[in-house]
Amino acid sequence: MPRKLILAGFFFNPQGNHRISWRHEKAPDHEVFSLDYYADLAREAERAKLDFIFLADHMAIWSGARSSVRHYANPRLEPITLLSALAAVTRDIGLVSTASTSYSEPYNLARLFASLDHLSAGRAAINIVTSAMAEEAQNYGHGDVFAHGDRYRRAEEYVRVLRALWDSWEDEALLFDRASGDFADETRVHALDHEGEFFKVRGPLNVPRPPQGHLPVFQAGSSSDGKDFAARHVDVQFVSLRSIEDALSYRADMNARLAKAGRDPAELIVLQGLQPVVAGSRAEAEDRFAHLQALQPDRLSLDLLSAWSGVDLDGVDPDGPMPPLPEAEGYKGVQTTLERVRLHAAKGLSVIEIARTMSAGGEMQFVGGTPREIADDIEAWFTSGAVDGFNLMFPHLPGDWTDFTGKVVPELQRRGLFQREYGPGTLRERLGLAPAPNLFRPALAAE
Ligand SMILES: Cc1cc2nc3c(=O)[nH]c(=O)nc-3n(C[C@H](O)[C@H](O)[C@H](O)COP(=O)(O)O)c2cc1C
Repeated sequence: MPRKLILAGFFFNPQGNHRISWRHEKAPDHEVFSLDYYADLAREAERAKLDFIFLADHMAIWSGARSSVRHYANPRLEPITLLSALAAVTRDIGLVSTASTSYSEPYNLARLFASLDHLSAGRAAINIVTSAMAEEAQNYGHGDVFAHGDRYRRAEEYVRVLRALWDSWEDEALLFDRASGDFADETRVHALDHEGEFFKVRGPLNVPRPPQGHLPVFQAGSSSDGKDFAARHVDVQFVSLRSIEDALSYRADMNARLAKAGRDPAELIVLQGLQPVVAGSRAEAEDRFAHLQALQPDRLSLDLLSAWSGVDLDGVDPDGPMPPLPEAEGYKGVQTTLERVRLHAAKGLSVIEIARTMSAGGEMQFVGGTPREIADDIEAWFTSGAVDGFNLMFPHLPGDWTDFTGKVVPELQRRGLFQREYGPGTLRERLGLAPAPNLFRPALAAE
């Protein structure tokens, strides 16, 4: 099968990927808590044949030390509820939501996502995060986040239980045989009786096997723990790489980890984060981004940098060098982000320069210009073989989203790079992922 370019529309903040997008003069306000806002964007993405929409999620309000909720807060709708509503107003587009393995039980997420998969006829997928914010831990009865390695160990067991629960009803288990009175074939419904380090789950699930069998599992996070987790368990990984060269060496690293986990490189799809801004020229697109950036108070950027680096920057000279950083090993926050801070500090950037650079849309690759220029960049990355597609992280919504779907997608289609129609089947099939055999079948076959 030829490689297929995958494109996804991402919601980080409801108003866009840039943290301060809510201040843009054309930003939506209260409507970001209404269904119509998301339905319009989802249908627009579906008309453009994007593969899926993807909702980020945090389970807390971030509370920066000084800027707090005054300048930036992240209230959002609960994503699985929102995707269930979007399932009803779309037909083909994939529906992907973030979910945390740290503050839920596998039985919770197995039911929610299996139900979403049934309601959407096989279009759901789960983005696993281990959650790195102390504010989230404190909403779920903990003083702080679990240790980094523990979070990933818990996530590994979580995913194994999740898949076993989805398999606990075999595809043929439901009979509805009114004549015999057999509702289900009891030999095809399985208890798990799982007892592990973190979870104790009896099973079976009380939702039949989802249309996709195993929903695609996504993940982001390029710490060593994160990469090993992806190599063992994940179908689609989000990355943020600086150049095609970096992406090629990242891919080689992941291929080695996949081989170690006994998996074929083709089993992992890698999607690069991209912030596209369509404009009359590259310079005009950069001006638009700079306009957003100018709206962001330095106080907020500094608070974000404190949170990312684990260093309290209160009282530190913003024009001076970054104070010493904690070691990645054992660091409880997001290690990928900590390493980014280290890289900037090593280049000699001052505290405020690092704060401004990193808070500008999370440092995802910016690509601005005419539709042809943006398509050129996408084509170069894709044809290099470094990545399989892009997670489109539009700085400002809805404008950047509709500009891309209306102007860049037709250019990619004209070049024969992007699909003009959805293929048949479920999201799993459309992404080119192999069918998921039921984990209980080998045991049955051996009987
Ligand atoms: C595209 C993308 C989307 C992400 N979405 C979320 C999210 O919705 N919620 C969250 O807690 N973390 C999110 N993250 C952060 C990571 O999933 C993850 O929590 C973190 O990178 C893991 O840290 P590590 O680098 O220490 O492994 C996202 C990261 C990327 C690149």
